Formats: sequence, C-alpha cells, structure tokens
Amino acid sequence: METAQVHIPDNAEYRELKKFIDENGKEPGPLIQVLHRAQKIFGYLPPEVQHFVARELRLPFGQVYGVVTFYNFFRTEPIGDHIVNICLGTACHVKGASEILKVLEQELGIRVGGTTQDRFYTLSTARCFGACGLAPVMMVDDEVYGRLNPQKTLQILRDLRNAQTVN
Ligand code: FES
Repeated sequence: METAQVHIPDNAEYRELKKFIDENGKEPGPLIQVLHRAQKIFGYLPPEVQHFVARELRLPFGQVYGVVTFYNFFRTEPIGDHIVNICLGTACHVKGASEILKVLEQELGIRVGGTTQDRFYTLSTARCFGACGLAPVMMVDDEVYGRLNPQKTLQILRDLRNAQTVN
C-alpha cells in the first residue's frame, strides 16, 4: 500500500506531532513511539493521522496500519471521556454480568467497543479486576463498582452524567 496524498490540516495537534517526529524520528525503530505520542495528542489514530506518520517517517502506509491494528493499545476510533468496563470473568459471569452488560448497552445505545455520540462513555469489557468478592463488578475509569444490579448500574451512569452537567 502506498502513502496516499491526504490533506493534512495545519493545526496545533499536527504541529506538535511533527515536532516530536523531527526530534525523535531519527532514533532506531521510532514508529511505536511516534504512534504512542500521536494517540496521546489526538486521543486515537484515525487514518489521516496514520498517513501523516507514514509520510513523515517515510514508511509505507501499510506498515503503519499493520502496527496500529496489531497492538490493542492503539485505537482507531475516538473514545469517550469515561470508560465503562464491565467484568465478564467467571465470578462476575456467574453473578449475572451479562444482564448488566445488556442494561449498559441499552442505556448507552452502543455495543461493546462503542462510544456514545456525545463521546461521554465508551463501553468495554474485562476478564477480572481481582475484585471477585464484589461480583458483578464494573469499573468506570479508575473507580470500582461492585454488587451491581440493573437498577444500581443505571443509577451510577446517570449520577456521573448529572455530576458532569452540574460541574
Ligand atoms: S471475575 Fe469479575 S472481578 Fe474477578
């Protein structure tokens, strides 16, 4: 795949990334480092940012795309301000995690991996938070919420949104 000609907007984010590449791009194996920085700047790695990185590092687009899609810490979709992580590990599963997941999907109107239109929530899953005694468990950002039931789950999401509106 060759590097396509894409319009690269001249804005602060691209200028910051360009500066980083100019300073670090000559180091051996800079691609991962540059992509990390790009994700930090943009929040995710849309195709135009990948094209920009490919062009600046003089790499084929396919190589950049391959690395972005290989590592799951790189995101190609925008994420919300808050990550809702529902645990689907064994203990949580036994205690009804799939019902909680259904409630989350319905309330947010998205599936796992999706982000609400207002970019407030991204829904994700995990395999165990090491808090099995509190099953079923979810984390919202760094906060653990345990012994969930559908009503409690909805209340947590609504409280967070309301807190945001008030602040
Ligand atoms: S299985 Fe859910 S916290 Fe351990």
